[in-house]
Amino acid sequence: MTLKICWPRAVYGSVLLSLLSSISSFAQTSERYKINKGWRFERHETSHDDIRYDVRPEVTDRNDNIVADSKPTESVSVKSSNQTLKAWILPTANDFIKDPSKYYPKPTSEPVVTTPLVDKSYDDSHWQNVNLPHDWAIKMPFYKGENVPVGGGMGRLPVQGIGWYRKKLTFETKDAQKKIYLDIDGAMSYSMVWLNGKLVGGWPYGYNSYRLDLTPFIQFGQENQLAIRIDNPTNSARWYPGGGIYRNVWIAKVNPVHIAHWGTFVKTPSVSTQKANIDISLSLKNESAKNQSVDLVTELYLLDKNTQKLLKKVAALSKQNIVIEANQQAKIQQETVLANPVLWNPLPAQNQQLYLVKTKLFQQGKLIEIYDTKFGIRSVIFDANKGILVNGKSIKIQGVNQHHDLGALGAAFNVRAAERQLEMLRDLGCNAIRMSHNPPAEELLDLTDRMGFLVIDEVFDSWERKKTPLDFHLIFPEWHEPDTRSFIRRDKNHPSVIAWSVGNEVGEQYTEEAGAKIAQKLYDIAKDEDDTRPITASMNYAKPQMPFPKVFDIVSLNYQGEGIRDAPAYAHLKGIRTSPLYPAFQKQFPDKLILSSETASALSTRGTYVFPVAKENSAPVSEGVGGNGALQQVSGYELYTAAFGASPDKVFSSQDKHPFVAGEFVWTGWDYIGEPTPYYSARSSYSGIIDLAGFKKDRYYLYQARWRPELKFAHILPHWNWQERIGQITPVHVFTSADEAELFLNGKSLGRKKRVEFEYRFRWDDVIYEAGKLEVIAYKNGKEWARDIVQTTGEATQLVLKADRKSIKNNGEDLVFVELSVKDAKGNMVPTATQEVEFEVLGNGELVATDNGDPADLNSFILPTRKTYSGLALAIVKAKEGKKGTITIRAKCKGLKSSEIMIQSVEF
Ligand code: GAL
Repeated sequence: MTLKICWPRAVYGSVLLSLLSSISSFAQTSERYKINKGWRFERHETSHDDIRYDVRPEVTDRNDNIVADSKPTESVSVKSSNQTLKAWILPTANDFIKDPSKYYPKPTSEPVVTTPLVDKSYDDSHWQNVNLPHDWAIKMPFYKGENVPVGGGMGRLPVQGIGWYRKKLTFETKDAQKKIYLDIDGAMSYSMVWLNGKLVGGWPYGYNSYRLDLTPFIQFGQENQLAIRIDNPTNSARWYPGGGIYRNVWIAKVNPVHIAHWGTFVKTPSVSTQKANIDISLSLKNESAKNQSVDLVTELYLLDKNTQKLLKKVAALSKQNIVIEANQQAKIQQETVLANPVLWNPLPAQNQQLYLVKTKLFQQGKLIEIYDTKFGIRSVIFDANKGILVNGKSIKIQGVNQHHDLGALGAAFNVRAAERQLEMLRDLGCNAIRMSHNPPAEELLDLTDRMGFLVIDEVFDSWERKKTPLDFHLIFPEWHEPDTRSFIRRDKNHPSVIAWSVGNEVGEQYTEEAGAKIAQKLYDIAKDEDDTRPITASMNYAKPQMPFPKVFDIVSLNYQGEGIRDAPAYAHLKGIRTSPLYPAFQKQFPDKLILSSETASALSTRGTYVFPVAKENSAPVSEGVGGNGALQQVSGYELYTAAFGASPDKVFSSQDKHPFVAGEFVWTGWDYIGEPTPYYSARSSYSGIIDLAGFKKDRYYLYQARWRPELKFAHILPHWNWQERIGQITPVHVFTSADEAELFLNGKSLGRKKRVEFEYRFRWDDVIYEAGKLEVIAYKNGKEWARDIVQTTGEATQLVLKADRKSIKNNGEDLVFVELSVKDAKGNMVPTATQEVEFEVLGNGELVATDNGDPADLNSFILPTRKTYSGLALAIVKAKEGKKGTITIRAKCKGLKSSEIMIQSVEF
């Protein structure tokens, strides 16, 4: 049944209200609470029971260090068996299947499951106590050496195996008439849920959020036993997936008549600063056996930017009565117009205004549900020549790719850690994030909305063809539609999301019409869920004349725009080779916007340098050419790349030569766990502009100079502690937003250089090393603009701690990130210091993890001792839950002066 209710196009004035309530979630019903605390957990490395989602193919190729742009291969066919639980899990997908004739029927029999772990009577008191979000692997020791169960590709941590989570839940008898749902925001992977020993459902893909109806299984007024089984295979990803229930879990209570899960969609079809048209679609569900009459009241509010609380009511739509037939859904359309809307603007503007639609349902005059939907008012136009226009203003994409892990905290989502990542990216001048290659935690999109990043939200890294033996291709046939729909349905109200990507470098690029047909299928599903945003898939292989790119609204190129393996330094390499393809794509698709969804794949380890330095402006890393295999380091001169990559300089010049390109998403903003190209004995990537611990690599300043040209700075590299290089050529490079620079070594000029078109750094490649002081004076338009000094330091004498905040909340989630640097007597950071430091946290805090950003450091993240890497280390500290007062953080190390700082833990 579809009802279309058109509201009068009245323009509503503003009514000032006192602060009403805080908004906890994005688009959700109000009776919903987290059940993250107090779980029992146990992990088995291999399965000890007869539970299987489906039969998996035998893994014959465990090679996890294949070049990322290798051609994906055909799936291996395996016979499903009726011993598996797939038939009981698949009905969970039905809400996300369009054609009811394709719904998966609920099997009439109970599945045969012999494990006692699902039973109420099972005694789990010997299991671990854990709180969610939880990543079971992140605190464990790294696997070292060859032939380990999880290699470098997936991060050398024990993500594999079976994890069980159990929790007791009580529901009051007064709720017996309600529908009670379990919302799991993310469980890695193949999660299955039992309540009181009965299988409720599950969701195999670990990155999507899902809801289960617990109602038929609940014993009201009694204790209920929830049991969740995770089955996370190794050889299933090209990066670190994490393991376990790594996002929030909720209980939602609604009446049998209610707003469907993710059942609101607020669109802003026409937007100006004078007025905005607001279209609201609602899905109402009647899960009762009789027709139900409800009154619908809709109000619109402006939100306070800092607190996200209701600031003022800006519109109220008159009450409407709706009758929904028994066991049916009703779709309602509402429209209104807002005068003088405050628009949502992306960075660098500091105006990220959000609004909220409050939908109230009444039955017989009684309020039965409130459903809040946050949204932003903005228009986005994708123009083939002008690029992306937000509210009519052209925004060049200065974007980065981000994986979902949070470094030493792993996959377990933490709002503050994610916010810190975004804050550093914002300072860099970044204005856009591609969620590579899977749906993020919804709280991350909440942050991108509030901080003004543009987002490409992406769902898959593989379709039917496989990249790793046990990746998504195994479940693609049954799950591509539900996973695509649920991903869009959850995220569609976020103003920061400007486009959907249904795939990254999928194997179907290679299979001509057959691949394009699958692409079309996914495109159609995505368009059906959201007709307001463009759909894309990233291409590292498909060429302009092939059928694949025709399918999509936007041309998203990975590396092809600036050319792959085409520069002289790459001539000897095998693999995809293309000349710069921006012009060819533009010729073929003159009306489509073109952007680079992946650029660079430049590699480096912070503060480490390898000599000699390449003369070219981009070179593939190899032993001695930027690479030091023994130390597993890649030179910080920022010229070296993956085999298919390009240095930032090469990418910039290509972008500048093709101004119609809407911008780039660098691979990657932050380092991430897994995929440690080129050294697979390491644990984490080399591609970040920022390292895994959150320290800036030299590359940071190369991007900042381009992305924030108004920021006055100059940055010299390398460091100047080269005792062993006295008399040897030691090139000096400078990254600056200036257009001229003069370098001095111990007061002597080494020459003043002017910026040359299509060059992005100043190079003094024949500097002969002598200890002392390097100084650069940078000029813009002939006037002094900025200076930087790098000097040979003295011996390390002291440790110095610096916290990113003075106080944190004592809610068990908030974090303080503490940087430790090793300094000489004058207070200069000693860039070569590798001291073993011990952290200690006293008072009201706890040490959560330590790191140093070294991809090859295989010491567990939870250890309180850490070697500084290029002079720095990091401690992550949280407040003891509920405890107020001082947290003391100390660092000590043999032979050096120790350091101590204090921060406050405050009531949240
Ligand atoms: C790309 C791929 C990314 C990552 C990157 C590594 O080809 O899409 O997921 O693997 O290479 O540099």
